[in-house]
Formats: sequence, C-alpha cells, structure tokens
Amino acid sequence: MVKNVVIVGSGAMGGGIAQISLMAQYNITLVDICDEFISRGIKNIKFGLEKLELKKKLKDITASQLLSSIKSSTRLSEAVKNADLMLEAVTEDLAIKKEVFRIAGENAPSHCIFASNTSSMSIHELGMASQRSEKVCGIHFFNPAPLMRLVEVIKAENTSIDTCQIAINWAKSLPCLRGKRYVPLVLKDSPGFIANRIQAPVSIAISWALDYAVDHNIPIEHVDNDLFVPVVPMSPLVLLDFVGLDISYSTSKYFESKLHPDFKPGKLISEKIEKGELGMKTGKGLYQWKGKIPPEIDRSKKADLLNLDLVLAIQANEGCRLLEEGVVKDWSTIDKTMRAGFNSLGPMTILADGNTDKWMDLLEQFSDKSGKEYLRPCEMMKSGKYMGLQFS
Ligand SMILES: NC(=O)c1ccc[n+]([C@@H]2O[C@H](COP(=O)([O-])OP(=O)(O)OC[C@H]3O[C@@H](n4cnc5c(N)ncnc54)[C@H](O)[C@@H]3O)[C@@H](O)[C@H]2O)c1
Repeated sequence: MVKNVVIVGSGAMGGGIAQISLMAQYNITLVDICDEFISRGIKNIKFGLEKLELKKKLKDITASQLLSSIKSSTRLSEAVKNADLMLEAVTEDLAIKKEVFRIAGENAPSHCIFASNTSSMSIHELGMASQRSEKVCGIHFFNPAPLMRLVEVIKAENTSIDTCQIAINWAKSLPCLRGKRYVPLVLKDSPGFIANRIQAPVSIAISWALDYAVDHNIPIEHVDNDLFVPVVPMSPLVLLDFVGLDISYSTSKYFESKLHPDFKPGKLISEKIEKGELGMKTGKGLYQWKGKIPPEIDRSKKADLLNLDLVLAIQANEGCRLLEEGVVKDWSTIDKTMRAGFNSLGPMTILADGNTDKWMDLLEQFSDKSGKEYLRPCEMMKSGKYMGLQFS
C-alpha cells in the first residue's frame, strides 16, 4: 500500500502533484536540487491550499495542518529510503531523469515503485536506468494537476501489471477540483500517449492552412475563424500564442522525429520562432499582444480551409491508429480520455454513426489538397474493425 510518496522536482507539475497528494493525506517528501527551489515550490503549494481553505474546499483540516506534514530534501538518496512511490517531475531532460532513476533504484526499498510524469521521454529507458524496470511506469498528469481530471498511467515494455495497478489506485485517490479523476491505462510507451497523440496531427492541418493563407494573401484570423467555437474561451490560433509558439514548434519537431515527416513545423511558425516572436510572452506571435490581454479579432470572415468536422475526422483517424498499434484497450477509452482531458465530445463517437465514408472522404480530400499523406485514413479506419476491438 502506498503511504510514503517522494516527489522529485518542485516546479509547476511537482508542486501541483504534491498539493493534491497532501490533500489525500499521503506522507510527502518534496525533493529538488537546492533549498531555494524547494522554498519556491512549498510557497506555491501553500498558496494553492490557502485558496482552497478560503473557498471552504478543505474537509476537516486546515492548510497549515496539511503543510506541517510535508518534508523536503535536496538529497534524493536519503529521501527515498522509506518510500513506497517515487514520482519524478524534473526538467524534461533524459540525462537528468535517468540519473534520478539510477539514484532512486540504488536507495529505495525493493517494494517501492517509480513513476515519471514525462510527456515525451522513454519510460522504458528510465526503467532500465533504475535496475527495476518492472516497477517503473509513467504517471502523466496535466497542468494544473489539481484541476485537470485526466491522469494517464503508462505501461512500458517491462512494467508489471501490479505496478500499473498501484499507480492507477494512487492516481484515482487524489482529489480533483473539477470532478472525478479519469485514469486510463496506456498499454504502450508510445509518443504522446493518448490525449496529446490524438491532438497532435491537427497541428499538421493548422500549419498547412497558415502557410496556404500567407501564400494566398488570406488574413490568418480567417483561418482562426474556421475553427472558432464561441463557447470556448480561446480560438486555436490565440491559444497557440497563449501557450507559446516555441512549445508547439518543439512538440511538432518531437512528433516529426517519432511519427512522420508531415509533422515538420510549417514555414510561418518556423519564421516566427527564428524572429523570437513566440506569442503572448514576447508581445508578438501570430497576433500582437498587450500583456495578457487576448487580441481583438473580427470573427465575420472565414478562410474555409479547415473546419470542425475535419478536426474530428483527423482525431478519429489518430484514434484508429492508437488501436492499430495496441496503445489503448478499446475505442471508448479514447473518448473518455479526450472528455476528461479537453472536455471534448470524443472523436471515436463520430465513427459510431455508421457514416465512416463521410469522414474518410473528408480526410482524402484534405490530403489531396494539402499533400499531407499522414492525414489519409489509416487501415484500421478503412477496415471498420475499430468498434469491436478489445485489448487486454
Ligand atoms: N508543465 C506542463 O504543462 C507539463 C504537463 C505534463 C507533464 N509535464 C512534465 O512534467 C515534468 C516537469 O515539468 P514542469 O513543468 O514541472 O517543469 P519545471 O521546470 O517547472 O520544474 C522542474 C523542477 O525540477 C527540478 N529539478 C531539475 N533537476 C532535478 C534533479 N536532478 N533533482 C531534483 N529536482 C530537479 C528543477 O529545479 C525544477 O524545480 C517534465 O517532465 C514535463 O515534461 C509538464
């Protein structure tokens, strides 16, 4: 049973995960490389807990009582001596992460399981570094962890089912401020796991549409309007600027290296990166920003290059690929994941309407026009076998 949890890395993710673990009354030790970073992490956790206390969302306990039980350390080798679970949330750098897993492997008790919160590194390689790869899995939280319902647990090549089950039980026990946690098991250590993978190929279409718009003197806000949904707080291009074009650029490069050359970032985004126009944080990206205030956009005209049906078809096709590759158990896991992660309908549901030809035609037509071969319907979509599939 998990009681003592060591969280390594006290940044945005480690801090959020430590906060909810404290709320679930686990014994937490927070580890970072220096006292200054730990103090910053604990200050953020304190801020989060006090906000909840003010809103009366802490049950029968105060923020200071919870905070009094957190321990901290700059020495991982000492911190893991009594651990049942070590969760790594350090900087996204394979060498740094491997060293964390090596030290933990040498010093933690043999029953202790290890998990990484990485979005892109190989869980298998981290497992090998720890010398206990059967006890190593991914536990992928979304930011901010206290608010985001979705947590993906990833089974790597050597991970035992027992390890996955412990990880799933632990993740499910953590409170979420926006409803019940959803914790799907990802059956393979595969790029983007489920949620980020389903979203990824949409960027191929957006990047192509942006370059097409520039080449044909179409204002880019018209492309933005193609996918604008009034109930969503930010349209896709505003969101790209908000998050940072450098983030979407490096994500596309990552998928380009792991999945297909069509993920290569387009001309416009690449030029923006070269010029240092990264979005909100630099004052200019696809749009001009005044601080954190989103740009005013005239929503009256569309470019008619993209549409929401196309986005759903691209996502459903990627869902079929996940089934083809055996990354998920069944199609409904994909939809539940997308609902928990992005409040979206779930792309696989659309295939259940029996009108698969319509979705495949959309993909074929878009591929013909854009030259993006990756977006053509995959074999699983064409076969129609996706609905009946069940992997264990
Ligand atoms: N930020 C996100 O939106 C997000 C979402 C999901 C997953 N992730 C993943 O979570 C992990 C952490 O991301 P983050 O955004 O919290 O990063 P961050 O930069 O905010 O925090 C990383 C922390 O790790 C510490 N650190 C670095 N080396 C260390 C070491 N050897 N020992 C102990 N601590 C060390 C740093 O000092 C820093 O405090 C990454 O793997 C990232 O890919 C991030």
